[in-house]
Amino acid sequence: MCGIVGYTGNREAAPILISGLKKLEYRGYDSAGVAVFHEGEIKIAKSHGKIANLDALTSGGASLPGFVGVGHTRWATHGAPNDVNAHPHLSDDGRFAVVHNGIIENYSALRDELIASGYEFKSDTDTEVISNLLEYCYDGDAKSTVMKATARLKGSYALGVICRNDETGITGRIFAMREAAPLILGLGVGENYFASDVTALVEHTKNIIYLDDGEFAELTPQKITVYGVTGEKIDKPVSHIMWDVKAAERGGYEHFMIKEIMEEPAAVKATIDPRIKDGRVVFEDFSFTSERMAKIGRIIITACGSASYAGEAGREMIEALCRIPVTVELASELRYRSPIIDESTLVIVVSQSGETADTIAALKESKARGAETIAIVNIVGSSIAKLADHVIYTWAGPEIAVATTKGYATQTAVFALLSIYFAELCGKIDGERYKKLVSELEKMPSKIQRAIDINHHIPYLSKLYADKKDVFFIGRGFDFAVCREGALKLKEISYIHAEAYAAGELKHGTIALIENGSLVVALACCRELYDKTASNVEEVKARGAKVLAVVHEDNKRAVSTSDDFILVPETEPLFTPIAEIIPLQLFAYYVAKENGCDIDKPKNLAKSVTVE
Ligand code: G6P
Repeated sequence: MCGIVGYTGNREAAPILISGLKKLEYRGYDSAGVAVFHEGEIKIAKSHGKIANLDALTSGGASLPGFVGVGHTRWATHGAPNDVNAHPHLSDDGRFAVVHNGIIENYSALRDELIASGYEFKSDTDTEVISNLLEYCYDGDAKSTVMKATARLKGSYALGVICRNDETGITGRIFAMREAAPLILGLGVGENYFASDVTALVEHTKNIIYLDDGEFAELTPQKITVYGVTGEKIDKPVSHIMWDVKAAERGGYEHFMIKEIMEEPAAVKATIDPRIKDGRVVFEDFSFTSERMAKIGRIIITACGSASYAGEAGREMIEALCRIPVTVELASELRYRSPIIDESTLVIVVSQSGETADTIAALKESKARGAETIAIVNIVGSSIAKLADHVIYTWAGPEIAVATTKGYATQTAVFALLSIYFAELCGKIDGERYKKLVSELEKMPSKIQRAIDINHHIPYLSKLYADKKDVFFIGRGFDFAVCREGALKLKEISYIHAEAYAAGELKHGTIALIENGSLVVALACCRELYDKTASNVEEVKARGAKVLAVVHEDNKRAVSTSDDFILVPETEPLFTPIAEIIPLQLFAYYVAKENGCDIDKPKNLAKSVTVE
């Protein structure tokens, strides 16, 4: 949600800021802006819509000279997405400019106080309160002013602040603060940066400082100084990021989404390989004992969006192999419903970004109730990675398309690893089965590649079905888990109404919606249950539905009356979801492409949901 970036150095700031914003555009893209300090003034350019508009408005930043600046790409919370509400926001007297990601919860009270003191507000945003509060608190030193003003803010924020010359005479300063929203600092040579995440900085520097909540950073071209809540200097470690610049670029593909689908075999391999040593599953960050496992009465998997659907697949794997009860809870619900969690509960949180506000809250709630926690996370150093007792990183690399693909595939691969690992500790698996499962898991990257290769007809199928208004995904067992992610993929990028139903539930209501020409995508890879799903297919066909069956490549007869087929390679049954989702991602991609949708940046969505 919203991306922010800051630069101070000896190069023109605006082009660097705009290029950083383009990398952060997946965080929100309803408007964008930059503020640059030049010859005693802060100059601002902002525009509604995508960053391309800002780029055109400023001729790639050339119309805004200056070496110090901040930038923002917005996902609107307070106020419509228009030029006035776009960030940066300038204080009444033009001394401070602010970019903000998050929500200021006490903005209304602060706004009333500032209006009573004569301040005028031009926008509907909570952020403008911050710029005017800075002016209100101004004491001649930008640094102490920023500290005073932020002490009065309640809520979540990653803030970037730039100040016109103050009385200290120090030039080139920018400030960055973090409270429950992601923010990192980048160290260059004679230049320094801040940004919402590493994708914006990787082309300039790989040396990063992760800010923690409550911390405040002062950046000049020469150095970065970090302060704690009470103003004490903090020595922060510098991390070296491994991502290649190319990993965050499209590299010849038309969209990030298709590039990321094509990267899935490699991403799953990178996630699995380091955790299989001499035929055994090992985790670098933790090891449980059988005694510890025996004390776990149940497992809760909690997450949002696709990560929760990866959790649904994970539940199928863990329950089948370990016979421990597993429930999947949406993080946005779990956090508010006084969950029954204690020391005997193991809580697994799943998050690509590691910054989803509800997932963070659910993790904190679980820890407070005594649970041991494991996080499955893609972003190193993210809030969730820091908060959880143990971390298992999905080595998917940067995922830029808003709709997750390789994030989901690597999360399900981690669940496969975990289920084998736990099963042994629970004494529920013999040596032979263990060996077989490990060897089958090692084959998954090539199975995923095959899932891509055997579905060359999907662009053709997409043309047949792109005009549908409603699509129903049905399946049973792990097929149903995959249905949920398949339906989400289609709806989020093509805007076609798509819902997943447990096939057995059809007759309890949904079948009323089936009419001539309705599209039903029937997943029938769960061998013990596909006869049942096949019966449900007959029922919808009898009511005029078109059926697109998702079946194993050797098993079209499973639902022989289907109109068309999507194919899935044969795998160890438990690991099928890791391969089965791939053609559904491709189907969603090609339908959206057929319909001319903005695939990487679907309307109203953002990749990292850092507000509740
Ligand atoms: C957003 C993204 C989804 C993602 C969900 C959870 O809605 O668009 O792709 O599944 O957030 O995000 P997380 O980063 O926690 O996995």
